[in-house]
Amino acid sequence: MDHFHLKNGELHAEDVPLARIADEVGTPVYVYSRATLERHAQVFSEALSGLDDPLIAFAVKSNPNLAVLRVLQQQGFGADVVSGGELKRALAAGFAPEKIVFSGVGKTDAELALGLDEGIGQFNIESSEEGRELAELARSRGTRAPAVLRINPDVDAKTHAKISTGKAENKFGIPLIRARETYRELAGLDGLDLRGVAIHIGSQLLDLEPLESAFAKVGKLVADLRSDGHTITHVDLGGGLGVPYKAGMTPPSPAEYGALVERVTADWNVKLAFEPGRVIAGNAGVLLTRVIRVKRGGNGPPFVIVDAAMNDLARPALYGAWHDFDAVAPDGQRMTANIVGPICETGDTFATDRECDALASGDLAVFRTAGAYGATMASSYNSRGFVAEVLVDGDRFAVVADRIEASAIMDAERVPEWLA
Ligand code: LLP
Repeated sequence: MDHFHLKNGELHAEDVPLARIADEVGTPVYVYSRATLERHAQVFSEALSGLDDPLIAFAVKSNPNLAVLRVLQQQGFGADVVSGGELKRALAAGFAPEKIVFSGVGKTDAELALGLDEGIGQFNIESSEEGRELAELARSRGTRAPAVLRINPDVDAKTHAKISTGKAENKFGIPLIRARETYRELAGLDGLDLRGVAIHIGSQLLDLEPLESAFAKVGKLVADLRSDGHTITHVDLGGGLGVPYKAGMTPPSPAEYGALVERVTADWNVKLAFEPGRVIAGNAGVLLTRVIRVKRGGNGPPFVIVDAAMNDLARPALYGAWHDFDAVAPDGQRMTANIVGPICETGDTFATDRECDALASGDLAVFRTAGAYGATMASSYNSRGFVAEVLVDGDRFAVVADRIEASAIMDAERVPEWLA
């Protein structure tokens, strides 16, 4: 459920007409709804309320905007970060260091050191090489790094290949068959407080079955590690729950997910952590755009050319992803169109042969479900800048990220004098 609704024939974010935001901030612009973020956070927390004090660490990569992070921090969430940059954002947004989890297969020494110096709560180690490096950095500081070992359970998450992470051929985690020996090696290091395991099998999961089979493998591993003499107190079950991008797409509800977790982990006797991203932020944002013009098609439907492009919202170009596309002031007429941006490649196509609200030059429209993996995946391709971001709260809104003009990006470049 979200708070982007038609009121008096016009699409609003909570109580703010999107047309007002377009007038005051310009387009394209990402618009987030605080009430939706809070609702999703509460529904997710509620779904896990049968567990003993779980850590819900928002996957910062899905929406790293500082204001969005603050909303979730105020909901009691922690943060799951994958780079030094995300770690600094999480701290700037006010997350307590002990509620920060550091994931990622390629953390550099500098990033590991930053995590240690900031006193974060958990490192998710993805290789024995990383574990040894982290141990050494911690030992040289006279501390022990709180850590869990990320396992690759080799399950097919049945999602898009580019966002599947738990198959043996993916780069993530330690293969299950090497988990016990790697755990034994790392648990013996002075600089590590190794206390459990982590998994994350993929994103936009529409089926609980792969999660259940991965969780079952984790349960078995926890028992094996205990029988090897280790003390296992923490398990991180990752993120991945899908969201409905269009009618008829029915991901498992957070309640169904929570029930599965409760059932499967009932006798694990550990503190559980979760890393949800999309399920919290996805439907809490739209990309508001204006139609530049409608161009007659060749032998197909007309091209609705909007001022947003693949550099602003990469998911359709990158994954063939579907985003609902709706007029801000629909007049009841419909059309079939190819929805495209202005960028000079055919990949800059949001939708082909899409039945949608009838639109004409100058009309406003939104791409829905753009709150996760939207603004954060933007680039400046074609010397387009970075779009602004707005957070709505009831009948007020604030610009929470300025538009960065292409000229500002150019300002960071220079022609060396030997080319003058
Ligand atoms: N934890 C880890 C270790 C992850 O790699 C991810 C996402 C998450 C948590 C959060 O997953 P979520 O709950 O959001 O599914 N750019 C792609 C999605 C990439 C996801 C990468 N990892 C997209 O636009 O679909």
